Amino acid sequence: AGGKPLAGRHIVITSGPTHEPIDPVRYIANRSSGKQGHAIAAAAAAAGARVTLVSGPVTIPDPPGTEVIHVESAREMLQAVKTALPADVAIMAAAVADWRSENDASQKIKKDGSGAPPALCLVENPDILATIGHHDSLRPMLLIGFAAETQNLIENAQSKLQRKRADWIVANDVSPNTGVMGGDRNTVRIVSKSGVEDWPELDKAEVALRLVNRIADFLNAD
Ligand code: C5P
Repeated sequence: AGGKPLAGRHIVITSGPTHEPIDPVRYIANRSSGKQGHAIAAAAAAAGARVTLVSGPVTIPDPPGTEVIHVESAREMLQAVKTALPADVAIMAAAVADWRSENDASQKIKKDGSGAPPALCLVENPDILATIGHHDSLRPMLLIGFAAETQNLIENAQSKLQRKRADWIVANDVSPNTGVMGGDRNTVRIVSKSGVEDWPELDKAEVALRLVNRIADFLNAD
């Protein structure tokens, strides 16, 4: 009573992009800044949780009061998440690369003079959210994913909820005109089995705070 709402809880959060190596100097990446995931980590820590933040390569500072595990690739991120679990809650906010280069060349790939570009063969990365969602012993009681889409937002979020066995999906429109990718504001909807909740456009820190309060309400309901 009167304590912080997430005191005694462990929360694992992924954030940022992943970098998938092509050779020692090149990689595949995406435009995720890590701002939303890091803001959630900071808000959860401020609410008293023990926070393990598994972060891909970002340029923003480690949030205060959290333990940060820095990783590069999707496979490293999955390993770090498994090591960080068990937890009461996991929030997968990272923009994990769907594909990586099949071969991570040990030497820099060179032009061969023929004018023919090298073939880049892609293979699918592990899905961290789905792996944890389907895991018997590691799945937390509350598993939250994100769905960043440029079209069919709610349909895509609902199918992710089922396919990846998440409890909630934070759905956001990342169309170029929204400024969400890399920006400071976000408009999200919370998609769960019980329906869709629309939130107004908010600062990413405010989205984080609302999400943390919703998590605390859920955990402290009984
Ligand atoms: O990329 P996608 O839109 O499917 O991502 C939806 C959710 O799944 C996000 O929470 C994201 O962090 C997670 N994800 C993941 N591992 C992947 C791809 C996505 O954890 N390889």
